[in-house]
Amino acid sequence: MGDLKGLILSGGAGTRLRPITHTSAKQLVPVANKPVLFYGIEALVSAGVSEIAIVIAPETGEEIRAAVGDGSALGARVTYITQDAPRGLAHALLCAEGFVGSASFVMYLGDNLLRDGITELAAAFRASRPDASILLTEVADPWHYGVAALEGERVVRLVEKPTEPPSSLALVGVYMFGPEIFAAAKSISPSARGELEITDAIQSLIDSGRRVESHTVTGWWKDTGQLDDMLEANRLVLSDIERRLEGELVESRVEGPVRLDAGARVERSLIRGPAVIAAGAVISDSYVGPYTSIGPDVVVSGSEVEHSILLAGSRIEGVETRVEASLLGRGVRLRRVERRPSTLRMILGDRSEIEIP
Ligand code: TTP
Repeated sequence: MGDLKGLILSGGAGTRLRPITHTSAKQLVPVANKPVLFYGIEALVSAGVSEIAIVIAPETGEEIRAAVGDGSALGARVTYITQDAPRGLAHALLCAEGFVGSASFVMYLGDNLLRDGITELAAAFRASRPDASILLTEVADPWHYGVAALEGERVVRLVEKPTEPPSSLALVGVYMFGPEIFAAAKSISPSARGELEITDAIQSLIDSGRRVESHTVTGWWKDTGQLDDMLEANRLVLSDIERRLEGELVESRVEGPVRLDAGARVERSLIRGPAVIAAGAVISDSYVGPYTSIGPDVVVSGSEVEHSILLAGSRIEGVETRVEASLLGRGVRLRRVERRPSTLRMILGDRSEIEIP
């Protein structure tokens, strides 16, 4: 099974997830309290791909190294490749030519989540050994994606964010390649947005008569590159969790699938799952509603929150208006204070967003 190598792209600028990405890698934002990137590594390992290189950016690479290490905790052997700047997916791929050598490989975008993993795709690739295999899914808004035109399962044309899409089949962030992709990636020029596009590299394979196959995703797929998708991914993952109460419960009610980790504490509160609450979190006199992920050492007191992701050490205290569809970064504080006149007072990082009713 050691026939395929894995390449996970976790560089990029992450502009659509600012301000979180000013200080942290978007691939490390937790979904159901586990970093998005870990789901990708696990998907590769399950498909028998354990020799993995992760492409990192100079700004966020150290944090990714610290979180993933040598990968052994996830059953992988991980090495790192620094890409100097986000010059496109095909550029990131070219950075990995030395690692890949003459092997075939899976390229996986580090901010993507696939419910059913990539095991079937990898098996199909191993069986028919095309020069490339791409994964597609039906979308309602194809002009936002790379789109494929097919003849049977064979891909005849790829276009990036087309104004007139040739189909409603969008490319999902998982690709399988034979070594020919490197020559193809070297033959292309940067696109109008200044990036070396992977769609152009694959189109170049097609144009030189190489075999490019496609498969359609069965379960859900999410690109977590922006807030709404991140929250939706959190909702989808939480939809599958099981009830497991290991933390401390005091005069509280817990309904539905809730994972309360050992070392978490809930007092005089209602928790309505699906929800996860990590060790060190303290929820008191509060309501935690469906699709909420509460990270380590978070405090929620006298407040209501649902359909949100609260990162480690954030606090919501005495906020009467329900907090929903929100992403709070590490150590964020949201609290009500008694003061006359009643004024808003805040310290916000660049590009923070707040909506006040
Ligand atoms: P994108 O989400 O397409 O790009 P981005 O991370 O720059 O984000 P934004 O558009 O919000 O500014 O990238 C998909 C994945 O590929 C993501 O995990 C980052 C990674 N990536 C690289 O590693 N190198 C690159 O040059 C690019 C463009 C992306």
